[in-house]
Amino acid sequence: MDIKTIDINKFKRIVFFTGAGMSAESGVPTYRGEGGVWHEYNWREYACQDAWETDPEKVFDFHDLRREEALKCFPHKGHELITTVQEAHSDVVIVTQNIDGMHQRADSKNVVELHGSLWRVRCQNEGLIKDDLNHGPFEKRKCNCGAWLRPDIIWFSDMLNPDTVQQADAAVTQCDLFVSIGTSGVVWPAAGYPQLAKSSGALCVELNPQPSELAWLFDMVYKGKAGELLPQLFKL
Ligand code: OAD
Repeated sequence: MDIKTIDINKFKRIVFFTGAGMSAESGVPTYRGEGGVWHEYNWREYACQDAWETDPEKVFDFHDLRREEALKCFPHKGHELITTVQEAHSDVVIVTQNIDGMHQRADSKNVVELHGSLWRVRCQNEGLIKDDLNHGPFEKRKCNCGAWLRPDIIWFSDMLNPDTVQQADAAVTQCDLFVSIGTSGVVWPAAGYPQLAKSSGALCVELNPQPSELAWLFDMVYKGKAGELLPQLFKL
């Protein structure tokens, strides 16, 4: 494929907007594609507040599996390339829908986690958010106050964290280069970010083996895998 290399020095503010496809080459399953998590599991039983209130242990077991899966995987060349872009440029934000922490494991900074993280818990009672970086299942399922902890993840029908949304909105509105990688573009409000970047005047680029629902609004659409396309798009 003919790829036009992007010179990062021509851009003041860069946003990488990532979805499950970003981690696919690391071995983390996506949600909707072949072998996707939501084909195997009904999210109504595992990823919404109702499921949690009905059977928190079952929901914890599901998320323990997600942690185990993520721990078996490692960042790939695409994650590393994004870190290299960050090291070479003063204003790069990663707005991710991923909860696996793979960008951080590749030493990326400024990661805005729209859908929360598998590596944090929140007390149902006190609302306190704590890291749980145990190298395996969640360390504790109950808070010291006696209430259930819950994975600090945005489940179906949950509101996004307003501070996180504010950070993401600011980054996307102000960027002049927006690179969307590995998202199907069907989950809102994240799916609105490409349009927001476009209407704010950014050059919008999509990388995906199967162009997303939103491909029509991008200036450039490259069909392929993140780990293969990113090093060709940015020669650093
Ligand atoms: P999806 O599973 O909906 O979409 C994954 C996208 O990645 C698809 O468009 C694939 O074509 C693409 N893809 C697959 N392999 C790729 C590769 N090697 N390189 C680049 N792209 C590749 O995942 P998301 O769009 O991230 O929410 O889903 C959004 C949200 O829905 C997730 O954050 C999750 C889910 O419910 C929560 O867990 C809260």
